[in-house]
Amino acid sequence: MKTTWRWWIIGLVSHTHPGVTELTSGQGLKMSCSQLVVDRIDPIQSPGVIGSNHLHQIVGGNSFNATMSPQDDPSRVSTCTTCTLLNDFSNYWTATMFYRHPNGTYRRVRQLGALWHESAREGGMTVYYFPPARNLSNIVAFKPGFRMRNGSPDARNATSASRYQGIQYTCMMRDDTRYTNLTDTFPDHPCPAGILTTIYFPPCWDGVNLDSPDHYSHVAWPTTGRKGFEQGDPCPASHPVKIPQVVLETRWDTRLLNNVQDWPRGKGQQPFVWSFGDSTGYGHHGDYIFGWKGDALNRAFTNCSTPNCDLPSQEIYEANRCAKEAVVKEEVDRYITAMPGGILADGQLSWGRSGSR
Ligand SMILES: *[C@@H]1O[C@H](CO)[C@@H](O)[C@H](O)[C@H]1NC(C)=O
Ligand SMILES: *[C@@H]1O[C@H](CO)[C@@H](O)[C@H](O)[C@H]1NC(C)=O
Ligand SMILES: *[C@@H]1O[C@H](CO)[C@@H](O)[C@H](O)[C@H]1NC(C)=O
Ligand SMILES: *[C@@H]1O[C@H](CO)[C@@H](O)[C@H](O)[C@H]1NC(C)=O
Ligand SMILES: *[C@@H]1O[C@H](CO)[C@@H](O)[C@H](O)[C@H]1NC(C)=O
Ligand SMILES: *[C@@H]1O[C@H](CO)[C@@H](O)[C@H](O)[C@H]1NC(C)=O
Repeated sequence: MKTTWRWWIIGLVSHTHPGVTELTSGQGLKMSCSQLVVDRIDPIQSPGVIGSNHLHQIVGGNSFNATMSPQDDPSRVSTCTTCTLLNDFSNYWTATMFYRHPNGTYRRVRQLGALWHESAREGGMTVYYFPPARNLSNIVAFKPGFRMRNGSPDARNATSASRYQGIQYTCMMRDDTRYTNLTDTFPDHPCPAGILTTIYFPPCWDGVNLDSPDHYSHVAWPTTGRKGFEQGDPCPASHPVKIPQVVLETRWDTRLLNNVQDWPRGKGQQPFVWSFGDSTGYGHHGDYIFGWKGDALNRAFTNCSTPNCDLPSQEIYEANRCAKEAVVKEEVDRYITAMPGGILADGQLSWGRSGSR
């Protein structure tokens, strides 16, 4: 039997979070998704554009392209997926992180697989689906054509980011650091084991629209309770339908970039910047295009008696064989004077002698 999961069942876990423990039956799905491609296309934000605003790292089905429309069901047109659950041809993507060198150039920060997913090509992402309040008997899964985004590349402060919830940075002290050292912004101090970014998508849906003009308004957060990880709180009347909560984890390998002598000086300053120019971190965002085959996701959630609900899986090394060539041919892996698309870090970074850390 092919199994990608090593079970680590800790006593009576009444409350499971994404992260270092594997999920037991009924708690949801967890998979490794290797990197499909790093490319400057975005079928949600810039449909048809070859050379979208900024660079992305993408995982999932290999039908991903700039022109894919809601009518193109990834589960029909993909021939492979980089995710370990074989029925999932969805696409998940985020911006890429860059390091700003004291000499003013930029270098892409590579990704590391999360714990137990270290062999995922180029790190990729860990993707979770959680049933509402871990209750498998009360689920409406997504439909073909469903898309959403959480976070906004335009957010640069806590106020503008507050509409979006559940976007977190974990300053990793160790490979398994979770639920501590959390911030809404880039950590302002070195993280010995890298930076983990987590994007929780909203768990409530209006039940009607597969997408919305801002790609966000058709989903919503529960009316009460902590934003972020779904806790079973009620959905607002405007968005009454609970959907599985999609969670993306990406681990950025900043381990060799921790020498504060090379960091910009000044309170809160740090050298990392998103590919769209944000050096605060408030603008981090992620995108999702549903692409599960048939009713595999619904079936998994309605009749689940084993971890990962007996969904067929492939090993990470098999998922690693699924890859695409970038459509936009440009340098993304050396020290470059501007990030792809000519993007520069916004805000002031100073390596001068004034100021202090
Ligand atoms: C993008 O994908 C769609 C759906 O598979 C396909 O019809 C279209 O030809 C593709 N476009 C390009 C430029 O490859
Ligand atoms: C900046 O520093 C990097 C790393 O040492 C080096 O490879 C690159 O050539 C430098 N670029 C400039 C313009 O000095
Ligand atoms: C799960 O949801 C179903 C359907 O709404 C409900 O009848 C049941 O009581 C819930 N179970 C738990 C443990 O909350
Ligand atoms: C926060 O950012 C928004 C734009 O995204 C801006 O309009 C607003 O003035 C900023 N607020 C503060 C307190 O800086
Ligand atoms: C990170 O969390 C650990 C464990 O709680 C704590 O000991 C440490 O001080 C934290 N480090 C920072 C830099 O916040
Ligand atoms: C539920 O899943 C089990 C094991 O995967 C299978 O034997 C059973 O037939 C399924 N029940 C239904 C109603 O689909």
